[in-house]
Amino acid sequence: MEKMVPKNLWKNNVLYQSEKLIEVYSNKLIELSIFDHAKNHKNGTNGATGGKNIDETKQHFAERFLTSSARVQFVVIDPREDFTIVSNNLKATFGSGKISILDIPAGTGAGILSLLSNLAELRINSKLPKLPLHINILGGDYSPSALNIYSDLLKNIKKELENQLIFIEYDTYEWDATSPESTNLLIRRFLKDENSYEEHYIFMSAFSGVGSSNYKKFDKSFDFMQTALSHLNTTILYIEPNMKEANSFLEFIHKLHTKLTTWLSKVIDISIAKDARFEWYDPITENIAKSDILLKQYLRK
Ligand SMILES: C[S@@+](CC[C@H](N)C(=O)[O-])C[C@H]1O[C@@H](n2cnc3c(N)ncnc32)[C@H](O)[C@@H]1O
Repeated sequence: MEKMVPKNLWKNNVLYQSEKLIEVYSNKLIELSIFDHAKNHKNGTNGATGGKNIDETKQHFAERFLTSSARVQFVVIDPREDFTIVSNNLKATFGSGKISILDIPAGTGAGILSLLSNLAELRINSKLPKLPLHINILGGDYSPSALNIYSDLLKNIKKELENQLIFIEYDTYEWDATSPESTNLLIRRFLKDENSYEEHYIFMSAFSGVGSSNYKKFDKSFDFMQTALSHLNTTILYIEPNMKEANSFLEFIHKLHTKLTTWLSKVIDISIAKDARFEWYDPITENIAKSDILLKQYLRK
């Protein structure tokens, strides 16, 4: 398995993020005049959870982006073999063909950028075959300022991905998870060309930070989403930090899934506990940080 992990991304048990992702991220920090903020904050502090307005978005972008992207990278390349089934499933799903992803909440794109840039790294390092892969991305979030950054980052990495035959199309939607009406419009947009794709993938990275008192308000939207997708070949992947809030979030999600879905009956549940946290290098602060993970994946049997 070691052999499947690109050497530039995992050295002496420390995770290093894709250079292209770091370049695109740093350029955006500079453009937003928050490079120094990002450089001087302390990894490991709670930071912001991301909010609707531009200041909250910028703070979250400067303080938490690389933590989210590190978690997703750790699952995709799986250097310690903690997530074998999920990592293999990601590599198979995003190996070739036409896939549609719903990325919620999209935020400023740490999760999706990490997924895409690591798929590219696996190809650059000949760990995966370089076959044409078309990915349609719909990012939904209630923060317009986050979605602006999201679109810019995807625009700036698009060419690099194309060099590896990964072709992306993307769109964003101002979605409020507490509103079933808004969720209906999001899903209609996601499914507008549903017959063109071999698989529909729901990617949920770092949702739990919105606060446990808010989860109940998502109830109807999540119910609706599951039913609206039930006729499709769908996978749902949740990647969260291993924190109390994320545990309650995934419990809430699990109750919803077991109440509703017989079609997504295969459940994978893996976590990296606090005492087994992985280390990753932050090239902006030049520190080594530690992270843990809670992961749940739902798929058809
Ligand atoms: C931590 S970010 C996650 C971003 C990204 N998926 C990642 O991996 O980093 C959480 C996002 O949830 C969004 N959010 C919070 N409440 C929301 C709601 N009710 N509806 C939609 N998005 C919401 C915030 O705007 C923020 O961008």
